Amino acid sequence: MLEKIFPYLAQQVVEDYNITNGICLDIGSGSGNWGIEIADITDMVVYLVDINGDALAKGVQKAGKRGIEGQIKTIETDVHDMDIPDNFADLIVCRGSIWFWRDRPQGLREIYRVLNQGGVAMVGGGLGRKLPEKYRRPLVEERQKRKKDPEWMYIRSKEYFQKILAEAGINIANFP
Ligand SMILES: C[S@@+](CC[C@H](N)C(=O)[O-])C[C@H]1O[C@@H](n2cnc3c(N)ncnc32)[C@H](O)[C@@H]1O
Repeated sequence: MLEKIFPYLAQQVVEDYNITNGICLDIGSGSGNWGIEIADITDMVVYLVDINGDALAKGVQKAGKRGIEGQIKTIETDVHDMDIPDNFADLIVCRGSIWFWRDRPQGLREIYRVLNQGGVAMVGGGLGRKLPEKYRRPLVEERQKRKKDPEWMYIRSKEYFQKILAEAGINIANFP
C-alpha cells in the first residue's frame, strides 16, 4: 500500500517547487520509489543514493521496466560522508531514512553540502498532501499504534527537526 504514495509525492514536490530540470538526489532511496516517480514526470536526472547496493539494483530494474533508465543513476554511499561533490543537486528528496542514521545532524550537514544554491531539499517522512483518502486512511490507521510512543512522535516533530538542523549548524531563520 505504501508504494501508492510516491506518484502523489512526486506531483507535490514538482508542483510546489517547479523544478523540472537538472539533478535530483533521492537519498536513502531504497529501491527508488520517490526518485523514479520524479524522473517520470520531469526531465531531471535522478540519482538514487543509498548505503544498500542491492536496493539500488532493484531501483535500476524498476526504472528499466518504466522505460526511464536513461534518467536514473545510482550512488552507493553513506549519508554521513557522501561520495558526492559540493553543490551537486537542484532537488533532494529523502523519505523514511533519517530515523536510521547514527548521526542525524551530520547527515543533514552532508545534504546541505551537496545541495546547490537556490535548490530545495525535503527530508522526513509522511504521506504528503495529495494522497486520496482511500489510500491515506489505511496507512494512517496502521500508524495510530506508533503514535502512542512519545519518542516516536518527538523525532518526527517540527521541533525536533529544528533542533537537529541547529545542531548541524544550518541557518533555519528563513525556513517555512
Ligand atoms: C525505510 S527505507 C526508506 C526507503 C525509501 N526512501 C522509501 O521511502 O520507501 C530506509 C532507507 O534508508 C537507507 N539508509 C539507512 N541508513 C543509511 C545511511 N547511513 N546512508 C544511506 N542510506 C541509508 C536504507 O538502506 C534504506 O534503503
